[in-house]
Amino acid sequence: MKFETNPADLFSSKAANSIPIRAVTKGDLKAKKSGISAKEREWAKSSNFDGSSGQHCLVPNADGTLHSVLFGLGDGISEKTGFELGRLAGQLPDGTFKLDTEIPNADLGWGLGGYRFAKYKKSKSKPAKLIPDGGRPQRRLIEGSYIARDLINIPASDMGPDALEKAFRKIAAKHKAKVQVVKGDQLLKRNFPMVHAVGRASVQAPRVLDLRWGKANHPKVTLVGKGVTFDTGGLNIKPGNSMSLMKKDMGGAANVLGLAHMIMDARLPVRLRVIIGAVENAISGNAFRPGDVLPSRNGMSVEIGNTDAEGRLVLGDCLTLGDEEKPQMMIDMATLTGAARVALGPDLPPFYTDDDAFAAEILSASDACFDPLWRMPLWQPYNAMMTSKVADVNHINTSGAGFAGSITAALFLQRFVSKTKSWVHFDIYGWTPAQKPWAPVGGEAQGIRALYEVLSKRYG
Ligand code: BES
Ligand code: MN
Ligand code: ZN
Repeated sequence: MKFETNPADLFSSKAANSIPIRAVTKGDLKAKKSGISAKEREWAKSSNFDGSSGQHCLVPNADGTLHSVLFGLGDGISEKTGFELGRLAGQLPDGTFKLDTEIPNADLGWGLGGYRFAKYKKSKSKPAKLIPDGGRPQRRLIEGSYIARDLINIPASDMGPDALEKAFRKIAAKHKAKVQVVKGDQLLKRNFPMVHAVGRASVQAPRVLDLRWGKANHPKVTLVGKGVTFDTGGLNIKPGNSMSLMKKDMGGAANVLGLAHMIMDARLPVRLRVIIGAVENAISGNAFRPGDVLPSRNGMSVEIGNTDAEGRLVLGDCLTLGDEEKPQMMIDMATLTGAARVALGPDLPPFYTDDDAFAAEILSASDACFDPLWRMPLWQPYNAMMTSKVADVNHINTSGAGFAGSITAALFLQRFVSKTKSWVHFDIYGWTPAQKPWAPVGGEAQGIRALYEVLSKRYG
């Protein structure tokens, strides 16, 4: 598979001539024991490096070449130290580096932090390489995250419904999965009226992408992703600033594809299905309108309150499709609401489910994997906010006050799931707005490392 940053470029197994990274606590620097030479200690002092967590210091040889790297641990090593190490992956010069201390999650943090998106840049810098500790199989976690990041980062000019379908087919082919695509006016014949309505104003036809993998008698796990390749808002057009990041509105699709890659790469004994509604929410003479009443795959009539609430319409039909074969588990991911960000900010995606045991597993995996998630409630009384005078339901909160936007979106989705054993919905942001050691600014995988952990614990 081709990645915008090749994970293999960040690692090397050739230990000869490697440069040591010495992980040091504040105490190590003060005490004169430990493996640090007097010269390193002096250099640290003159560089004002005291071993604070996340800091580092380059120590030169007499001829100016790099001798070693001091990497600050603060008070000591924790499960999170590997993620802090990610900063070095993006900053150290070309060369091969070897940790002198075992650090949990070192390979994962290095891999996540070393990602760069340089598709459109002439100059591509050569990344530093780490000698992997060879412990846990973290390669597939890195690759899954890169799939999500790449697909989000590629702008809508090169990631419309056509390109998203192509990427979908590539991932499927890599794992010998079966693909079915329903596209354009076929969506009407095959009963996906809401996917069609949202996507029909785009030059690139709307479509439902459907992948199946694994043995038919294994437990059915279905992933559903919002694949809005660009969200103008439709006729309820977004003001300029709100539109600027909307290439990431296929972030749910990107994330479920990253997760699907992890599951298939690990050959988890599940019957996997991935359903993506791939559309562009564009504006044209045939665009759907506020006040329209749409039929839906499950038979409900839906009054359109605002064409910018397009994601829940696309997901509604896709969830109905997934629900029809009664999977054990259906997980959907979507950059669904701005309200989720108002509530929890960009780095803490809310998720919704009625299955308390499943929620508990997700929360504990979220903690263990440093993949932050927060449970929010499917607060049934708020369904009353989505009443319509003309149709069975309105798809937005019509009470006028704009209360509980992420919850009401989740409640709308819940109406399309009735036979599935456990359903969980993630309202993700899909983007890192402020750089972190393990994440450059740009498209981001959210929740999928935790979900992979849950699935591999359950089925692995
Ligand atoms: N894709 C957006 C939600 C979004 C916006 C996610 C910004 C992340 C960042 C979604 O399609 C949308 O526009 N939702 C509206 C819904 C409203 C019209 C009920 C929103 O959240 O404002
Ligand atoms: Mn929208
Ligand atoms: Zn959207």
